[in-house]
Amino acid sequence: MSNWSITLPELAAKKTRGEKIVALTAYDATFAQVLDGAGIDVILVGDSLGMVIQGNDTTLATTLEEMAYHTRCVARGVKRALLLADLPFMSYPSPKLAAENAARLMREGARMVKLEGGRVRAEVVRFLTEQSIPVCGHLGLLPQSIHQLGGYRVQGKEDRSAQNLLEEALLLQEAGARLLVLECVPATLGEEIATALDIPVIGIGAGAGCDGQVLVLHDLLGLGTGKRPRFVKNFMAGAEDIPSAVRDYALAVQNGCFPDDEHSF
Ligand code: KIV
Repeated sequence: MSNWSITLPELAAKKTRGEKIVALTAYDATFAQVLDGAGIDVILVGDSLGMVIQGNDTTLATTLEEMAYHTRCVARGVKRALLLADLPFMSYPSPKLAAENAARLMREGARMVKLEGGRVRAEVVRFLTEQSIPVCGHLGLLPQSIHQLGGYRVQGKEDRSAQNLLEEALLLQEAGARLLVLECVPATLGEEIATALDIPVIGIGAGAGCDGQVLVLHDLLGLGTGKRPRFVKNFMAGAEDIPSAVRDYALAVQNGCFPDDEHSF
């Protein structure tokens, strides 16, 4: 028996029972403890730390060493949640390198790693799965491919790209992915992909039809500078303190109140 309440089978069971999964990013032990205590199911050490912690414009500068450091810090604050860590930009160009780098993050306390991309990542996902490293895929808007995409835009708006995203999601699942993050796609497509997949689909700007939601912690706390993306809601507005804001977010996701149409595409 493991000491953790939230395991991958438990996340799969939540999908089967129709219970929403609540995920949120954290980058240090103190916030990890707050999120864990507020009932967040999945705590993601996102490579978004390059933006919200380090002040970069993109996630591209985040290194494996930095991911390892923040994963170690977050792990110290987590008792219940499943700790997911991002493989940063160019840390998984081949199955062998991906496995070495994923193992580094798992030795720091991650219980699953996330990587971006579809078809081209299937071989890496399969290899990591064979090495007993659980993988979360990431499709839709891919921040590590931002220069190739040409900007932070909604993906899968046309029939052809929507069909391609659905095919890639099925491919990642077939390769062994146990979870999928879907970022910035129309709500109808988010629901279609979540329905088509057996594994849980966690949306960020992908509508209420996903099996769960994730946000960047700083966005939820209203700390973002610059233009706030449509899918972000400031849960600090009206909240007494940070733990209350995080609990309000968890409840809003669990009750199906977030995201509403105002926060979807
Ligand atoms: O790095 C990150 O925070 C993420 C979320 C946007 C899902 O990948």
